[in-house]
Amino acid sequence: MNPTENLFSSERTLSREVLGVVEAAALAAGRLMGTGKRDAADQAAVTAMRQTLSEIPVNGTIVIGEGERDEAPMLYIGEKVGKTQPGLPEVDIAVDPLEGTNLVAHGLPGAVATLALAPKGGLFHAPDTYMEKLVVGPDAKGKVDITAPVKYNLSILAMSLQREVQDLTIVILDRPRHTQLIQEVREAGARIKLISDGDLMPAVSAALIGSGIHAVMGTGGAPEAVLTAAAVKCLGGEIQARLRWRNEEEKNRATRMNIDLSEDRIYRTDDLAPANELVFAACGITTGDTLKGVNYFGNGARTHSLIMAYQSGLVRFVDTIHLSREKGGRVKL
Ligand code: FBP
Repeated sequence: MNPTENLFSSERTLSREVLGVVEAAALAAGRLMGTGKRDAADQAAVTAMRQTLSEIPVNGTIVIGEGERDEAPMLYIGEKVGKTQPGLPEVDIAVDPLEGTNLVAHGLPGAVATLALAPKGGLFHAPDTYMEKLVVGPDAKGKVDITAPVKYNLSILAMSLQREVQDLTIVILDRPRHTQLIQEVREAGARIKLISDGDLMPAVSAALIGSGIHAVMGTGGAPEAVLTAAAVKCLGGEIQARLRWRNEEEKNRATRMNIDLSEDRIYRTDDLAPANELVFAACGITTGDTLKGVNYFGNGARTHSLIMAYQSGLVRFVDTIHLSREKGGRVKL
């Protein structure tokens, strides 16, 4: 029997186990929305995710996490998580307990708690650097090319989606490094949605029919590229990415991880998320294009999540009301 069969064969198990982890992180971080306390929000999400992960029946290893062991006390790369008992499935886990730290701190849209889970070896151990990314949905999969001019990719994308280039909306992180890219997209005639943070969920939106977002372009976090790959693989979309080093220290660390330093190498969806059994989950913290944020009320809270499983084709949005059973008191979430 495949050692991961127990965990991956049952959608109900997946929903129960993995959904609870991202919901817990979102519920914890959402409380700090608008406080300006980015580190506290991140810490709240990390602590809640770490706690709930410990209840999942796996021998898990964090492969994308909060950083190296010496800089992150919880959910560091290499940390063993889950119930960690003999006989349980060996899985690799990529986490981003708070994707969009600044978004939560400032009460801006689009922050989520997210994770991807796969059998051991099923997720690329991305270094903590940047990647240039091109993310599209199923219609343009296999047709765009990250090495081609922006204008070419936009016309291919428009053709694939049976529309004009001017009807496309491209999400780009609002950064000085994207001045040239933004200019090229404008010259090609597509619409642009500039975002201040969080390029992962727009990538999910790009792979979802009817979201109004058609591609994500530009350079952002490499760890987020792995989570993006897991998500768009479940949706039949595509990511192409190339490493973009920020400094020598990053390169030295990557060399120790046996990572090819070449900036020309193209990482495709299956390079970043090679697993054939794959689970991706995200829970909204602040309301974005695809997921609503956490709403708190007197004796509970309401969350909105997305759970997907590549092997079964599961794509499920989950709207959950978490009610407190505490007698008389306000809910403690
Ligand atoms: P946080 O890790 O602070 O939540 O930021 C996430 C993010 O906005 C990613 O979505 C994006 O890929 C990356 O940071 C961009 O990095 P930078 O802010 O350095 O341009």
